[in-house]
Amino acid sequence: MNPAIADLAGYCHPQPHYFNNRARINHLIDRYLSIHILNERFADLPHQFEHPQPRPWQPIHWNAIHPQQIVGIRPELFLLVISGAAEIEAPIRSYSHESWCYLRSFHAPMARFMGGEIGEHHQAAMPGVWEKEERQHRPAFSKIYQQLTGKKLVMLPNSVADYCPSTDPWTDMQNHVMARIATEWSAASTYLWLLAHATGELQRAIAQPLQDEVNHLAKFWGFSRWAFGTAFSRQVCQCFGSLLPLLLHHSRERTVNQGLHQEVRLLTDLPLVLELGFTFASVIAKLHTWDQELCLPYLTAVLGEPLYPSRELELV
Ligand SMILES: [Fe+2]
Ligand SMILES: [Fe+2]
Repeated sequence: MNPAIADLAGYCHPQPHYFNNRARINHLIDRYLSIHILNERFADLPHQFEHPQPRPWQPIHWNAIHPQQIVGIRPELFLLVISGAAEIEAPIRSYSHESWCYLRSFHAPMARFMGGEIGEHHQAAMPGVWEKEERQHRPAFSKIYQQLTGKKLVMLPNSVADYCPSTDPWTDMQNHVMARIATEWSAASTYLWLLAHATGELQRAIAQPLQDEVNHLAKFWGFSRWAFGTAFSRQVCQCFGSLLPLLLHHSRERTVNQGLHQEVRLLTDLPLVLELGFTFASVIAKLHTWDQELCLPYLTAVLGEPLYPSRELELV
């Protein structure tokens, strides 16, 4: 491959068509979601419980980002996806506190990993690793937007559903973990698609939040398989069921704040919709391959005795 036209997604065609873009998406999945990476990210979870440490970022040369680094897509559509990504990444404190509330009575280390240390009066004493990693994403996408357009990104407000306990906290916690997996799946797939349509420093910049999202996806997916023992197909259905209300919630807020205009522009671009669908499906296909390695002895070796038998004992 000519190094002058090779980037993180493989061959960077000057005028790519749909199948060139698919080849780039496949290349990125092999690069950033290999079975080795997924195993390594999941197996890192117990270490993070004991010695929490955010994933370090490679340095980004923000001034080297420019609009000519957008590849094979109309810049306005690329920018719409970037601004949507920046909006949905916040408010991270509310997201992480919600996770802490659902998890704290079932798995304190995971509650701490996501929601941090909470003081006596419910104030945040120390943010969790997940929050520390996530809170870098919105500023990164805002900076990218500003570099590409020369304008500050006007952010639309985004709200969080909040902690809504029912009379069955176990099911609440399970539903919550599925919702978190769905958002990580969505973020990882969207950033992977952005990476396929970028090159140079723009691509290197988006690769940083992408690797965080893959890290979260592997950790939450593995944790969920260990905690609930749910079959792959059921877990995918539950995640998909969580993703739809989330997208509708976000879309409704954008509609209230700005009208349907932008969503319609995205959804009427058929190649874009096909490519995004292909990316989401390819990420799930990779998780399916990995999932076959997540047998009980392996999960137990990483996280100890699974959570669900004790739950079943509780119910006897
Ligand atoms: Fe994120
Ligand atoms: Fe994430």
